[in-house]
Amino acid sequence: MAFDIDMIKGAYAQMAKRVDKAREIVGKPLTLSEKILYSHLWDGMPTKAFVRGKDYVDFAPDRIACQDATAQMALLQFMQAGKAKVAVPTTVHCDHLIQAKSGAVADLRAANTSSAEVFNFLESVSNKYGIGFWKPGAGIIHQVVLENYAFPGGMMIGTDSHTVNAGGLGMVAIGVGGADAVDVMAGMAWELKLPKLIGVKLTGKISGWTSAKDVILKVAGILTVKGGTGAIIEYFGEGAKNLSCTGKGTICNMGAEVGATTSTFGYDDSMERYLRATERSDVADAANNVRDYLTADPEVYANPEKYFDELIEIDLNELRPHLNGPFTPDLATPVGELGPKAKKNEWPLKVDWGLIGSCTNSSYEDLTRAASIAKQAVDKNIKPKSDFGINPGSEQIRFTAERDGLLQIFEDLGATVFTNACGPCIGQWDRSDLKGDEKNTIVHSFNRNFSKRADGNPNTHAFVGSPEMVAAIAISGRLDFDPMNDTLINENGEEVRLDEPLGIELPPKGFEVEDAGYLAPKEDGSSVSVKVDPKSERLQLLDPFTPITPASLQGVKLLIKAFGKCTTDHISMAGPWLRYRGHLDNIANNTLIGAVNAFNKKTNFVKNQLNGEYMGVPDAQRAYKAAGIKTIVVGDHNYGEGSSREHAAMQPRHLGVAAVLVKSFARIHETNLKKQGMLGLTFANEADYDLIQEDDTFNFIDIADFSPDKQLTLEVVHADGSKNTIMVNHTYNQSQIEWFNEGSALNVIKKENAA
Ligand code: F3S
Repeated sequence: MAFDIDMIKGAYAQMAKRVDKAREIVGKPLTLSEKILYSHLWDGMPTKAFVRGKDYVDFAPDRIACQDATAQMALLQFMQAGKAKVAVPTTVHCDHLIQAKSGAVADLRAANTSSAEVFNFLESVSNKYGIGFWKPGAGIIHQVVLENYAFPGGMMIGTDSHTVNAGGLGMVAIGVGGADAVDVMAGMAWELKLPKLIGVKLTGKISGWTSAKDVILKVAGILTVKGGTGAIIEYFGEGAKNLSCTGKGTICNMGAEVGATTSTFGYDDSMERYLRATERSDVADAANNVRDYLTADPEVYANPEKYFDELIEIDLNELRPHLNGPFTPDLATPVGELGPKAKKNEWPLKVDWGLIGSCTNSSYEDLTRAASIAKQAVDKNIKPKSDFGINPGSEQIRFTAERDGLLQIFEDLGATVFTNACGPCIGQWDRSDLKGDEKNTIVHSFNRNFSKRADGNPNTHAFVGSPEMVAAIAISGRLDFDPMNDTLINENGEEVRLDEPLGIELPPKGFEVEDAGYLAPKEDGSSVSVKVDPKSERLQLLDPFTPITPASLQGVKLLIKAFGKCTTDHISMAGPWLRYRGHLDNIANNTLIGAVNAFNKKTNFVKNQLNGEYMGVPDAQRAYKAAGIKTIVVGDHNYGEGSSREHAAMQPRHLGVAAVLVKSFARIHETNLKKQGMLGLTFANEADYDLIQEDDTFNFIDIADFSPDKQLTLEVVHADGSKNTIMVNHTYNQSQIEWFNEGSALNVIKKENAA
């Protein structure tokens, strides 16, 4: 189930040579992040120094993890690549599609019925293509990865933004879109703009009510939700060594909340302890042999201001527990200062729920610290004023916590233990205590607290804190409760105080699990058939895209001229549409319905040039498709910003859009368009955007000569017969032009495979 130790030893042997070479080329001491990046170059040995924040670099990640919502389209695409097996160790984890309602047993049973076809599909594809499969109930992707797969100095990608959690074990682990994961599964390189580096120096030691969670809550307050964009956050210092490995995981996990590419820590004793406790002593021994390579060069941490693009210092002796929120994870307030702030902003002080767990905070240490608070409520006869919900991160954690009596403590307080899955963290929460959208407050130890995130109610004020602080606040039932200074009245009418939490880093009797929920794939999966019901509304096997020919690029109609912001959410909305993530034709019915039509400033209301009627964008597009006419989408600046979701490129492609012409692209979306065999173009002269009219037809004059570094010429024919000839730019290199010529990047891989 775990990593092949020989593979890790091989990686470490390579790492030493590559890091030494990189240091020589770069000509200065290296940070840990640079060591990991330079030792994972696609081309092997480093040959040049890359510029941080500027150069795009090809990498070779060690492994891939996918969760059930994003894995569907990723695996449907991978099936197109014509490969017998994934090129890189890959796992699939069923954690997002399980609703929290009545408790683990009933909820898991319900999910296994309602999402049976999706789970069966993922299981059979995994079995066929050599992918490890973690069943529903086995746990949350990032906790399972930390327990089984993460290793110091490794690089992984995952189709979930909190893949970054594995930085707690010294990895560079990055969340990506499905298309990127498919490339790597199919044996291609993975491209990333070399991130900038933010150093966070931790001094001192956390104690009392303060926890690792408070480090990242504090960092979020400093950096805000955008402050880490395009950067790796590297933590170091004595304070870092004093944190547990899982505490480091929590900090890295929430690096996603400041927009960081990822976060990481150097290898230390806490990681060694965690590796040995999770039965990976062989990995710990191998890591010990290359210890110096698994942390920055000493000079870097001695003079960090010289080696990081930005530096933050936090004294853990001074750090106070925080609660961040509501509605954004960077609104950081020290516990004890929340009362006046809440009153001023009219945030409800009464707390209805305390939720503990998720991929962020369900380690043994977290559960013991929270349980030590919960137990005091039982022992001191305090009746909790809020409801409690617990989401263990994995079956291994759940089983061990149950064996050690931790779960019983919460159950004695009336807590509901939900499935080892995301549940309320991703809106999969059938909350029965609210009648409508009433204003209310909850506290949780998750990572995100955007509006509607937990329960779909825009008026739920969610605050993020450590598990032990969530336990204390939930027991008190008040957002302004400060357990360090305030007392509570128990059922006997006595004034009582909650003592400081006490945690145990790792289970003294070791971790234990009866059935971890893992299914290893067949050695030879060629006989496994993947079944998808043709009548399914949630899954649809993909047909390869056919190439867009030069002939079809004459007489192209304008589908929509988008006005202003057009993010991937505008192009392919989330929310209820998530249900159709594995069914391209069904999800295509949301294509561009959020984009604003520049001609009438309305959404999902465009002119169908074939009959002059106004209709929804997908309806107009389907009419063009039925008539065999290709279309073009015109857009403004930074078109396709937001997520790396490949649906935003696949859907227009599926419906027959041939080209997207904009003032500028968000780079990932531009690449996604290229991968799907479409034309992603930019105006050579931005002002030409204004020339485009509602009834325009486009002729791609010189598309037959499509080549790198050569502009394309477009003839724009207006309704009155007048014409404009405009020049457009593109960034296709020769292999990307090959993708276009063959219909998609996957078609090229398939062709190469067959040759
Ligand atoms: Fe799941 Fe929430 Fe983590 S959705 S993967 S528990 S961030």
